[in-house]
Amino acid sequence: MEIVESPLAMQGIAREIHGRGKTIAVVPTMGFLHEGHLSLVDRARNEADVVVLTLFVNPIQFGPNEDYAVYPRDRERDAALCEARGVDYLFAPTVDGMYAPDASVKINETSLSTHLCGAVRPGHFSGVCTVVAKLFNITLADVAVFGQKDAQQVAIVRRMVRDLNFPVRIVMAPIVREADGLAMSSRNTRLAPESREVALGLSAALSAAIEAYGRGERDAAAVKAIMADAMSARGLKVDYASAVDYSTMEDVDEIGPGTLLAVAAYCGPVRLIDNRLL
Ligand code: PAF
Repeated sequence: MEIVESPLAMQGIAREIHGRGKTIAVVPTMGFLHEGHLSLVDRARNEADVVVLTLFVNPIQFGPNEDYAVYPRDRERDAALCEARGVDYLFAPTVDGMYAPDASVKINETSLSTHLCGAVRPGHFSGVCTVVAKLFNITLADVAVFGQKDAQQVAIVRRMVRDLNFPVRIVMAPIVREADGLAMSSRNTRLAPESREVALGLSAALSAAIEAYGRGERDAAAVKAIMADAMSARGLKVDYASAVDYSTMEDVDEIGPGTLLAVAAYCGPVRLIDNRLL
């Protein structure tokens, strides 16, 4: 595995790979890798000849009161995990390498990103779109693999790819969960041991909603109440408990195939998200 820091060098390598007639799959991450990320690497391996994992904690997708400064980082450990999992190139740029001091161009998706996390994290998805567009241009990716845990992010990236004609195919891979149901996230490492039980409220809320759906419940308001109550009962501070049409991210009145059940909540200072797609 080769570690590359410079965007220009990465682009040169990607050109050379394409010149040899090989395809590139990229797995964009912010590092502090876990099995969820590594499952994306496995998927990427099945989708293209060469796998590039990008490791960059992107400052412009964090709000001023969010966790950029304390976001967990461990580049050595990440590099070892990538090497062991068969990543070909680890692209790990610096902030200065990615953003000129007078950078003044950003990408704004203006519809899907007004809902769910976008409604409570202004500017977040603009930061995501901007960095993902840059990563696509730097790695010359043919395929990009993202996790369903960030289902809204995947929908927005797909919209960006469609609307701006990026020659990249987007693959969404399933959420990987801990044995107890907690969706894997780098932020889980910031949970105090006693908060772990509380954090299970997110997956428990979604399971309760799925159970209600299985019993024939279709009323979105009732399902949202079930999810919100399940989270509050565990001691989570609910950010949202939503049922939206996954193609538009707009609230639905009735849940059914294509509905995204999405939850976000604070477990102490740590904001966690989870979802299930019907
Ligand atoms: O999902 C993430 O980790 C980030 O939002 C991404 C896609 C790597 C962009 O910084």
